[in-house]
Order: sequence, then structure tokens, then C-alpha cells
Amino acid sequence: MRMAPVLVFMFGIWSVAAAQQADPCVIPRPASVEMCEGTFTLDPHTTILVDPGHPELNRIGRWLADFLRYATGYRLTVDSSPAPDAAGTTILLRLADTETGLGEEGYRLTVAANRVTVCGRRPAGVFYGAQTFRQLLPPEIEGSQPVTGVAWTVPCVRIEDRPRFRWRGMHLDVARHFHDKEFVKRYIDYIAAYKINVFHLYLTDDQGWRIEIKKYPRLTEIGAWRKGTGKHCFDGRGDQERYGGYFTQDGIREIVDYARERFITVVPGISMPGHSQAALAAYPELSSTGGPFEVWTGWGISKEVMDPGKEEVFRFVEGVLDEVTELFPGRYIHCGGDEVPRDRWKESPYAQERMKAEGLKSEDELQSYFTKRVERFLTSKGRLLVGWDEIIAGGLAPNAVVMSWRGTNGGITAARAGHDVVMVPNRETYFNFMQHAERKGPGATGYLPLMKVYHLEPTRGMTAEEAKHVLGSQACLWSEYLPTSADVEYLLFPRMFAMAEVVWSPANLREDEDFLRRVPVGLARLKRAGVNYYDGNEYFPK
Ligand code: ACM
Repeated sequence: MRMAPVLVFMFGIWSVAAAQQADPCVIPRPASVEMCEGTFTLDPHTTILVDPGHPELNRIGRWLADFLRYATGYRLTVDSSPAPDAAGTTILLRLADTETGLGEEGYRLTVAANRVTVCGRRPAGVFYGAQTFRQLLPPEIEGSQPVTGVAWTVPCVRIEDRPRFRWRGMHLDVARHFHDKEFVKRYIDYIAAYKINVFHLYLTDDQGWRIEIKKYPRLTEIGAWRKGTGKHCFDGRGDQERYGGYFTQDGIREIVDYARERFITVVPGISMPGHSQAALAAYPELSSTGGPFEVWTGWGISKEVMDPGKEEVFRFVEGVLDEVTELFPGRYIHCGGDEVPRDRWKESPYAQERMKAEGLKSEDELQSYFTKRVERFLTSKGRLLVGWDEIIAGGLAPNAVVMSWRGTNGGITAARAGHDVVMVPNRETYFNFMQHAERKGPGATGYLPLMKVYHLEPTRGMTAEEAKHVLGSQACLWSEYLPTSADVEYLLFPRMFAMAEVVWSPANLREDEDFLRRVPVGLARLKRAGVNYYDGNEYFPK
């Protein structure tokens, strides 16, 4: 009976208490769980002990102490050697380089009556083990105020766990609607709790440029602002209100540091040569026609794109990427490449001249020429270009990573050619699609229920050899119809539970019934934390 758990989830009949009596309700499901006799109880005298000489472990210990303080009111000590008179319970965080079986991100969590031990080969594993420990505590632990009358008890258990994929991503579009630094940090906390390790921060599009670039100040003076909020998109009303915002370089550094402390790499998304009308409004000379342009107030695909016939386009892109690569230390830089109309290039003397000079037979090859030059530039800086699957047309740049969004064919083709790929087939990973089948009207561009995400298999249709090139997957949150943070949260949960499990848990442990047993407990945690989520009822954003 596959429907039963779905209904149970919808109507909340399956109580949190009943769900917790079985295996612990950890999301994503750990690789191995062995329940033991007894319980561990957190009390005001519990000490967090960390291996000495590891600042990162110390930081994880302090993060855990801070987190536990809100709901319990306990100010737990973080120490690297037990106090001589220590008699209470301990949470030990330790590194063991010899534990090769745990890999770079795995952990072993052992809960005994007097001691919790979180062991990882690397700090990331210890952090993930601490996140699992968090989920073993009652949902009340997620509250921001001290609660009384709750026993902070955890079942004795031995968990061994490591992720299936290296790229466990979540994306957020801050170009269409801007979401500020405070919310972005909260978003990072949400995704870190479920062991996501890549945050694809999508920063530029036709409707807004959201990152300060010192060499090109007009990008944010002009490109970050438009005439119209887009907030009334749900009922089709337009407005002329000035709308916008951007991250300063200090703000970006703060976000990147915040993410790094939670073992998340931020992959910046800078769209080129299409989805770039906001940049063209600031620097119209990068276009074929010379403009003028406005930052776009419509949604869709703008015909105004950068012209690869012009050398100054490459000077601009390289100038931007010089600063972007300074700010984002990760290996991957996402340079878009999707949905680039050819209309302007067909009529542009610059583009046509470039095609003649370079022997390019089509506009597809012209885009490939553009991507290859950008990719070569990034490679020279020791970075890798990621692009949407449109970058395959006309010839793939040698080191490019393909993000396959128009289904899986692009990813399979690229993997077959030996390229690394991230599988984001939109029908299974676009969280801007509605969770509710009945939702109609603007914004309802698709329907993506929870279990469709859960049934995503990133290596589907690939041979074992091709599957080796699958770095992982991610869910995307495009923000045309998401003016508020509550809208983002509503579309994120509970589907992110499913995505986290797709990319972390062993494929053979993905079971509908077991997942649906754990979902209500995850939602109870969000409720305690004051986070919005889809609960089976239609939600009309304000
Ligand atoms: C995309 O959704 N255009 C990548």
C-alpha cells in the first residue's frame, strides 16, 4: 500500500512519538544504525571534549554548545582535556586519520550511557556526526528559547555513515528576487543540518546583478536595481517601485566564511553570455547593438546577450572572474551558458566577423568558442567551469563540468565523453515547481511532489563507467515567484529532506515507507525552529 504513508504524512496521523520508537528519525538516513540498550541524557554538567590541537574541532565543539544552549539553557563547557574532578557525562569529538573506511566526510557516532563519541577522519565527518546527534535529541531542541520539562535523552546507538556523492547541492537564485545576507546564512544553516556540502549561490540574471565588482561599479549601481518589485506576480499586477539589492564584497566573504565553517563550499553562479541583461544595462557596449537597456522587469528569456564578437566582452568577463575567484575559494565557478537566443548574433557584424575569422560554422559554435575561452581562463587560475547543459552544443570545452537540467541526456552525453557532471533534471529537482497538485495560476509552472524528488536516481540511464563522472545532484530554487524568505522555506521543505537522502544515503536504503516515517519528525523540528514548510495544505503567498 504505497499511498498509506503519503496520507499519513499529509494528515499528520503518524505521531512523532510513534515514529521515534523505531530506528532514530535521522535525515538523510545513515548507512548503518545499530540500536543498543539504554540512553544518554544531556545535563548542565555535560562536557564537550575535543581532541587537543585541532582548532576546527574546537569550533565544531563551540558550534554544538551554542546550538544546545538555546533550548536547554545549559552552558556546556568545551574543553580539550577533562577537568580533574569531571564526573559527568561527555560528548567527545575526535579525529582518527587511520579510519580510512570513513572516507573524507564519514563519521562514527557512538552513544553510550555516559559518553557520546563522534569520530571522523576529517573535521567534516565530525561535523556531520554532530548534526546526526542533534537529530537524535527530541524536536524541542530546535527551539530558540529554553524549554522546561523535556528530558534531553538520546537512545544508545552506534551509527556508521558516509555520503554517496561528493556534490550534495542546494541552489538559491538571489537575482530575480533578492534574499539578503541574514536569510542566506539561515539558508546555509538549513542545508548544513542535512549534510548538504555545496551551495550554488545564483547571483546574476536579466533582472538583477547581486555582487559588487570593484572594477565594474555600474554592475551594482545600475544593474542591481529595477523598476518593479515583481512581488505582485501572483495576481498579475505590476508595479513601478524601485527594487533591488546586492552583496558587498565583505558581505560575500562573510557568507563564504559562514558556509565554510559548516563544511559547505559556495559555488557562485555568474550568468554569461545570456541571462545578462542587468549587466548590459550597466555596460551596454558588451551587447551587439550597444543598447540602451534597462534591468529587465519581465520573467523569461531575454534576447539581449553579450556579443562574443567583441574582445571587450572577454576583458569584462575576465575582470569579473578575477574578483569572483578571489572571493570564492572553491574549485568550481558556475558560468551559466543556458538559454542564449541567437537573434542578435545573427545580425551582429562583430559576431559574424568572429565566426568568419575563427572558422565557426554556426552560432552554436560561437557560443562554444566563448565558453572555451572562459574555461581556459578559469583553468589557468586552477578553477573549473561549470555550465548548464547548453554548453555541449557546438563542442564542449575540455575541462568543463556539465550541469544537466533539461533532463538527463546532456549529462549522459557529457559523462560518456569523460566530463564530470551534476545531474539536476528539472522535473525532479526544481523546487520552484509546486508541491501541491491543485495550485493554479502564476508561479505554478510545474508540479514536483515530495516523492518524485525522493525517487530521483542521479546515475539513471548510465553505465558504471559513465556513473563514475556523476559528482552528484542538487535542487534548484529559482526565485521569480519567491519574493519572501517564507516563500523560499515553503518550497524547500520537506522536499530538501528527499534531496539530502538522494545524495547522501546508500541507494539500497532509500525506502518510501521508512522515509515517510521520518518526515513528520523532521517537520516537527522545523516547527520548533519557526521555519515555514509545506504541510500538505495549499499555501497562498502574501
Ligand atoms: C535553467 O533553468 N534555465 C538552467
